[in-house]
Amino acid sequence: MSEFKSKIDLNRLPKHIAVIMDGNGRWAKQHGRPRVFGHKNGVRSVRAISEASAELGVEFLTLYAFSTENWGRPTMEVNALMALLVETIGKEMNTLNENNIRLKAIGDITKLPAQSYKALLKGIEATKNNTRMDLILALNYSSRWEIVEAIKTIAEDLKNGVITQEEINKDLVDNHLNTRGIPDPELLIRTSGERRISNYLLWQIAYAELYFTDVFWPDFSKEHLYQAILDFQQRERRFGKTGEQVSK
Ligand code: IPE
Ligand code: IPE
Ligand code: MG
Repeated sequence: MSEFKSKIDLNRLPKHIAVIMDGNGRWAKQHGRPRVFGHKNGVRSVRAISEASAELGVEFLTLYAFSTENWGRPTMEVNALMALLVETIGKEMNTLNENNIRLKAIGDITKLPAQSYKALLKGIEATKNNTRMDLILALNYSSRWEIVEAIKTIAEDLKNGVITQEEINKDLVDNHLNTRGIPDPELLIRTSGERRISNYLLWQIAYAELYFTDVFWPDFSKEHLYQAILDFQQRERRFGKTGEQVSK
């Protein structure tokens, strides 16, 4: 067993890990190849990290695959990413089922190109009875979009007398987000050295531990994930209390 893996306390695993998979383009550049080559190689890391998370007993893994802002990239790159999504879901369906992993998605997925949308729905349907881990892809996702949508629905319900103003609380907001039913991520990992959130799960990461690594996504391996989890397990999560209170 790997040195890092054996040190992980399986009783204190994060239930939910969220990842900003970044650095595909720079990885490709480093190898003297076009950006799309980086995205293709990023799929290997998706497979490795999904497998490692499920093996450990992580219950939810949310991967930022395409942001609302990513539509602004060159058309060729956007098309390649959308095609890669279709191809990957098709190829990985059996592996997901063998590993008892359920595929889900957050984001405005109806706005994806028809082929990608169809492939995604097919993958979600084919894996819906799996129970070991939820693999949630954030696709055409942005946190501000998600929050605005929630506000619209809540305002509508208020106007129609479905709810009263007093009933608006944290839980109600939680239940109007795409992530309803999914516990907040305890650990957020971003690869590639950037230290920003880029419109990802802003509400849900209120108390997440943030982990930044310089490793580019296509190089991010199971070992790197184990290191991130170990780092997480060494932190004291205080939730506003004092160190003395929480270490009791
Ligand atoms: C992350 O890698 C993948 C997506 C955003 C789809 P990037 O493509 O952002 O890679 P860099 O940041 O340009 O290196
Ligand atoms: C965030 O990465 C989105 C995804 C990983 C899908 P970006 O590379 O798009 O983020 P910025 O633009 O550098 O903030
Ligand atoms: Mg990037």
